[in-house]
Amino acid sequence: MPDRSLIEIRDITKTYRMGAVQVHALRGVSLQVDEGELLSIMGPSGSGKSTMMNILGCLDQPTSGEYYLDSVDVSALDDDALAEIRNCKIGFVFQTFNLLPRTTALQNVELPLIYQQTGFMQGVSGRERRQRATQSLEMVGLGDRVHHRPNELSGGEQQRVAIARALAMQPAIMLADEPTGNLDSRSGAEIVAIFQRLNREMGITVVFVTHDPNIALHTRRIVRLRDGRIVADEQVEHPRDAETTLATVLAESTEDE
Ligand SMILES: Nc1ncnc2c1ncn2[C@@H]1O[C@H](COP(=O)(O)OP(=O)(O)OP(=O)(O)O)[C@@H](O)[C@H]1O
Ligand SMILES: [Mg+2]
Repeated sequence: MPDRSLIEIRDITKTYRMGAVQVHALRGVSLQVDEGELLSIMGPSGSGKSTMMNILGCLDQPTSGEYYLDSVDVSALDDDALAEIRNCKIGFVFQTFNLLPRTTALQNVELPLIYQQTGFMQGVSGRERRQRATQSLEMVGLGDRVHHRPNELSGGEQQRVAIARALAMQPAIMLADEPTGNLDSRSGAEIVAIFQRLNREMGITVVFVTHDPNIALHTRRIVRLRDGRIVADEQVEHPRDAETTLATVLAESTEDE
């Protein structure tokens, strides 16, 4: 019986078949995420973090188990229905940004809005789309970079464009697979500050994977995976504030100069 939680997976397994060999990426994972949570997922390489995120993000289907997203039984949906629910509920952010290279920040953010012409985007004019894309870029602090192409932006800025692109779709949940993995500590702190702000001010539920314990301590809950199983699920007593972390990082870098 599904309850009010936004995400609920029960006894999810994922087995990849590689010829005669089977890889058990997830061996029975159950997790419940309530609306408004900010949580991080940690675990060694190969423990199944990306596999789980892809399933949570409806980018992949589990081999067995149940998934309720906002009380909808996702395991029963076909590909079209899955794409639909993904578009209206989930924003996905990848480690490698995944922006279109010869396309400005604004166009990168606008593109999914153009392709998504059903549901809440139905009848939205080009002007409104542009406005929404601009607002999303302003929200991540890139109001002055809208006409830059990815190669004219820093890694941290590119990741912020990717977040704005997800944000423009007004998702209930943001899922991010190692969003700070390719970034230095300053850009990483900036990204975490944005996630904290989206969570606090817009009530967006945020789940991200990180290898960095210092990054994880900015969330309110840390889930640990090992060998395809959840081995720990802990509350963080006093989550760190990323703006404070950022100020510290900036102060240290001026000292170095
Ligand atoms: N498409 C695939 N086909 C076959 N095996 C896969 C596939 N994707 C992942 N695996 C295997 O499943 C296991 C879990 O992989 P996964 O990518 O989820 O780990 P991860 O925790 O995200 O690791 P990392 O920290 O390195 O990103 C690994 O053993 C991996 O080799
Ligand atoms: Mg991974």
